[in-house]
Amino acid sequence: MRLLIRVAKEAQRKYFHRTSCYRFTSEGSTLRKGPVEECKWLCGSSQNILSAVREQVEVRQNFISEEEENALFKEVEKGLRKKRYEFDHWDDVGNTKNVFLAILHRLPFNLNRNRHNVNAIHGYRETERLQWGDVCESILRRVRAVAFPEGSPLLGPVHVLDLDKLGYIKPHIDSVKFCGSTIAGLSLLSDSVMRLVQENNSADWVDLLLNRRSLYILRDDARFKFTHEILKDEESFFSGQRVPRHRRISVICRNLPV
Ligand code: OGA
Ligand code: MN
Repeated sequence: MRLLIRVAKEAQRKYFHRTSCYRFTSEGSTLRKGPVEECKWLCGSSQNILSAVREQVEVRQNFISEEEENALFKEVEKGLRKKRYEFDHWDDVGNTKNVFLAILHRLPFNLNRNRHNVNAIHGYRETERLQWGDVCESILRRVRAVAFPEGSPLLGPVHVLDLDKLGYIKPHIDSVKFCGSTIAGLSLLSDSVMRLVQENNSADWVDLLLNRRSLYILRDDARFKFTHEILKDEESFFSGQRVPRHRRISVICRNLPV
């Protein structure tokens, strides 16, 4: 069984590498196949799927400056450094014993228990922060202003997730009970690739290139009907181009369900 799962995973990985990547221009108007210079952050398995998600995904490159990244890093580091990175020593999420162990190990610390399936993240530590210093608060105000509709009730604490260089996020959908229609995340310290895969048809996928200091926003169907994941270093390619993954910290704002 394990062998079968491994073979299936390998086949899926090869499929992702082989499939041609369609890209949008940054204006989002012209769709062309193959590398397009001004198109920096979105590619996917077909034109149809790109058209379907185009209004629901967004990456704003250089949303924060280096100074702002430093300010955020300094502030989140205080909450993170007391914690240890958590690594799973098992891979088979379907195994009852492993799920039990995961619950046993992670429940006391795991702020994500309300957000996604047990075991969705590997090689991470995390914290939440409600009060921020002036510089960070003004960055977060900017994030909220561009990501959420005016008046949308937000989840108070901001989620901070620190992925080790060996860490990655497996495909999952954030809990619909606890989080609303929009997820907005700043990426610090490293570039990475976020993959969205349609839940009821895994042949439909898009990749987002999340450059260091960018802001990504997932809305509506892209958030509810697609799983999202952050690729591990050895699988981190965008449109055939290697995107080395180092330690990465994300600062994530969410709204509340209505
Ligand atoms: C999560 C998640 C993405 C990120 O914590 O649920 O998907 O950018 N995080 O770290
Ligand atoms: Mn998530």
